[in-house]
Amino acid sequence: MDDTRGRLTRDGIRIHEDADFAGMHKAGRLAAQILDDIIPMIEPGRSTEEIDAKITSMVEAAGAVSATIGYKGYQHASCISVNHVVCHGIPGPKVLKDGDILNVDVTVIEGGWYGDTSRMYVAGNLPRKAERLIQVTHDALMKGIEAAKPGNTFGDIGNAIQTYVEANRMSVVRDFCGHGLGRVFHAPPNVLHYGRAGTGPVLEEGMFFTIEPMVNLGRPETKVLADDWTAVTRDKSLSAQFEHSVGITADGADIFTLSPAGKFHPTY
Ligand code: MF3
Ligand code: CO
Ligand code: CO
Repeated sequence: MDDTRGRLTRDGIRIHEDADFAGMHKAGRLAAQILDDIIPMIEPGRSTEEIDAKITSMVEAAGAVSATIGYKGYQHASCISVNHVVCHGIPGPKVLKDGDILNVDVTVIEGGWYGDTSRMYVAGNLPRKAERLIQVTHDALMKGIEAAKPGNTFGDIGNAIQTYVEANRMSVVRDFCGHGLGRVFHAPPNVLHYGRAGTGPVLEEGMFFTIEPMVNLGRPETKVLADDWTAVTRDKSLSAQFEHSVGITADGADIFTLSPAGKFHPTY
């Protein structure tokens, strides 16, 4: 990938220029708009491949490109992870049933920039235990974003997320992390959702990355199924995830993937 503008830190993290924020906002907004537009489709009886087909057509209609179709052999425009699926669920013919919770994760390439976001949905009625899991996972992402500012470290982000999740007696998945992005999909650093305050690279203005904590009601361990993609909780407990793409500004984090309709939060 041609990604030569700006400079790299000694940790290999790209420092982008002011003008690059506009490109990330455009890409991030499109990904978030798509996640808004599928809300009416999330209902019992709907298959996850129907939802993915809609996402594929919306990416095309916008004149953008799916970042996931063809990525390491993946063939879909979204990952749809239902109930105990932690991430990388493959859309298929199985239909949603009442009370299922699901994460839909979409990454688009728009004008050369990557917009990567995911959020939780429910089919039908939301079970009480799942509601708590979704709320804690959403709030954990927001605690991570609050810690994302110049002078803080990536360890501060992970620590803020882990501390909050564990105070709520849930667990943070260790096997998957957030990532730098920009004109590439996955770049340094690995953004861990756990860790010690004050450790890891120092955040600087111009860094672009995702924060995407996965939280389990039970144990944190995961395993990948025989399809080589689907990651599930080993103890079959429910799992939730929210993801934003952000850019570090002079005094905080600019969220590129805010919901245009204000429907990112689980209580929409
Ligand atoms: N969007 C995912 C992420 O947050 C990556 C999905 S890769 C795929 O990094 F191939 F599984 F789609
Ligand atoms: Co991501
Ligand atoms: Co994603």
